[in-house]
Amino acid sequence: MSSDFSNLRVDFPVLDQHVGGHPLVYLDNAATTHKPRAVIDAVARFYERDNSNVHRGLHALSMRATDGYEAARARTARFINAADSAEIVFTSGTTASVNLVAQGWARDNLKSGDVVLCTEMEHHSNMVPWQIVCQQTGATLKYIPVLGEDAEGGLDMEALDQLLTEQVKLVAFTHISNTLGTINPAAEICAKARAVGALTMVDGAQSAGHEDVDVQAMGCDFYAFSGHKMAAPTGIGVLYGRRELLDHMSPWQGGGGMISVVRYDASEWKPAPERFEAGTPNVADAVGMHAAMDYLDSVGRPKIGQHEAELAALAYDRLSELPGIRLLGPRSGEPRAGLVSFAFADVHAHDVVTFADQDGVALRGGHHCNQPLMHKLGLPSTTRASFYLYNTPEDVDALVTSMRRILNFFGAG
Ligand code: ALA
Repeated sequence: MSSDFSNLRVDFPVLDQHVGGHPLVYLDNAATTHKPRAVIDAVARFYERDNSNVHRGLHALSMRATDGYEAARARTARFINAADSAEIVFTSGTTASVNLVAQGWARDNLKSGDVVLCTEMEHHSNMVPWQIVCQQTGATLKYIPVLGEDAEGGLDMEALDQLLTEQVKLVAFTHISNTLGTINPAAEICAKARAVGALTMVDGAQSAGHEDVDVQAMGCDFYAFSGHKMAAPTGIGVLYGRRELLDHMSPWQGGGGMISVVRYDASEWKPAPERFEAGTPNVADAVGMHAAMDYLDSVGRPKIGQHEAELAALAYDRLSELPGIRLLGPRSGEPRAGLVSFAFADVHAHDVVTFADQDGVALRGGHHCNQPLMHKLGLPSTTRASFYLYNTPEDVDALVTSMRRILNFFGAG
């Protein structure tokens, strides 16, 4: 495990604090990540020098703001290897991106008899929008099952083959599970979907900032992610869509910035991506996300992903020695992204998280926006430790020590 990563901690001012008298050990990165100084400074610099509305003004600040916003779009296209900046729509985050496809593409294109295929490991953001649009159109929502009593087997790819009939118009799936740490074979699923004429919507919330993403090599039609889960500010996210699809999609929200002509009775839309960006966009945070992309790529996303995966594998193996623990997702030695979810037989996840907080260890306990999967696994909730580039093996030590203390307190150790 590279020591370069512990040197990066100074780039993240928030990590330099104590919680409950202990140095902060932040292991809630799948929920949101911290921001390096470079991102904080980029946002501050925008407000200090360039703050203005975009695309509408001819004065110097408006032109600088517009340049910054469009440079962020071009950077985002490079970040995921989109063919064209026009394929990048800025949204408020993954949830808004998925809803945009549901209401902008699926609502116009689905009908009774059609099928949307999801997976049992989706979080609510990539499940509820499809439930809504299926209710609106009469289409049916089906799920690719997850294998194993601890969901250790990943997606049932044989079931996918059986489910993939010509009725399927869209396959919406997560690239990396926020609950299990499973890495899904995105390119393979996209190829199988394409073979029956279905489009694909990939939820990249847990992958974009953790590995090199190439949407063209993946072969997806849509790919969504959030800035805040990859060192960028909250409130900015991305929908990538293949240009010929975006150009034929209806706007989801109307307002300024997305129209070319407005009459009292009707209006005409701009082409993508402006068509989908009604109102004043989140310029400052797009500029901040540009800085985050530069920061992550200066470290190297494959190195970041490998570092987190090593920490998660270490945590998995160390936690598996604890009495009464049930670990979810891929087993030891199998590929796993940088997070570990677990449950104790005798201690509720909310108690675990509350006690860990007293040790300065920030975890997440709950259903992780994935109630149906928890139900299937017979669990009310789990505790999750999720890692990012600034975490270290010492953070894993702190996690395991805290878990031992909790088990001793509850008489379960
Ligand atoms: N999807 C977010 C998480 O996994 C909220 O915590």
